[in-house]
Amino acid sequence: MGIQTIAVLTAGGDAPGMNPCVRAVVRTALAHGQRAVGVKRAYEGLARGVMSELGARDVGGIIQRGGTILQTARFADFAKPEVQQEALRQLNAQGVDALVAIGGDGTMRGAAALQRLGVPVVGIPASIDNDVYGTDISIGVDTALNTIIEAIDKLRDTASSHQRAFIVETMGRDCGHLALMSGIISGAEMTLIPELEVGAEEVAAAVRGAYERGKTHAIVVVAEGAKPGANALKEQLERMHAGFDLRVTILGHVQRGGSPSAWDRLLAARFGVTAVERLAKGERGVMVGLQATKVAGTPLAEVSTRKREPDLEYYRMARMLAK
Ligand code: F6P
Repeated sequence: MGIQTIAVLTAGGDAPGMNPCVRAVVRTALAHGQRAVGVKRAYEGLARGVMSELGARDVGGIIQRGGTILQTARFADFAKPEVQQEALRQLNAQGVDALVAIGGDGTMRGAAALQRLGVPVVGIPASIDNDVYGTDISIGVDTALNTIIEAIDKLRDTASSHQRAFIVETMGRDCGHLALMSGIISGAEMTLIPELEVGAEEVAAAVRGAYERGKTHAIVVVAEGAKPGANALKEQLERMHAGFDLRVTILGHVQRGGSPSAWDRLLAARFGVTAVERLAKGERGVMVGLQATKVAGTPLAEVSTRKREPDLEYYRMARMLAK
């Protein structure tokens, strides 16, 4: 017998676009004559069996909303085999035949573990960090970048009024994609990421150079996980006399909120529809992702053990364009 009931969950850090993706999963399942079930609070809720049926109306009016109506949770305990067994028991008890897991790299590790236990699973990448292997871009990245440039454009107004340099911290504890892309689209003098070591002297030279070339302001983008961090960098630049008066702005969790952009809504629809239709065709254990404009599948076993590395070409481009 084919799949009759599909459960959907959102896990890890929320990303704008999760809601339209849940909507797409639920409505595609219904269009195929299947039942849809929403799991609350990610893998933590799954292990406790917190799930309920979702109809077409339950996912109405959410296409434009940030966050996730299913809520999410960070749940390190899901790495424990006994917790995974409990989740399996809950899925069986509630008559669920397959699962769609929407989230980042940690979510894909949980999805791969359930797949190994025999649950048909398809993953959908959603994380503003854009570090999920197997997709060129994850749901949420575009909206986060739009939030970042809106903030930096505003900082630029005040920076140039005072002839200041702003050190702007973006999210990205373990990876620099978001910072690298932000550096290009905001015209930053320098971008610091965890994957590439750049000394404070080099940053000071870039900022001082901008000052000496008569720029009215300078922007340095620093990923959350970069060394030195934003505040330490400010102190070091002050000691090295980098020309401009300096300020630090930590963008923080505002980057995760907001109404999903047109791109993220479209990606959410494409991934949601493809995930359910691939499950219906008998495909299991893959994550759908965007590869050179087409939606493609990558085995969860591969996604869950690899990291998408940042494209350092962005670094070169940003430095060249910052003159
Ligand atoms: O993984 C997404 C992310 O936004 C990271 O960039 C950031 O370091 C982390 O989540 C913050 O996590 P939390 O919301 O649990 O503080």
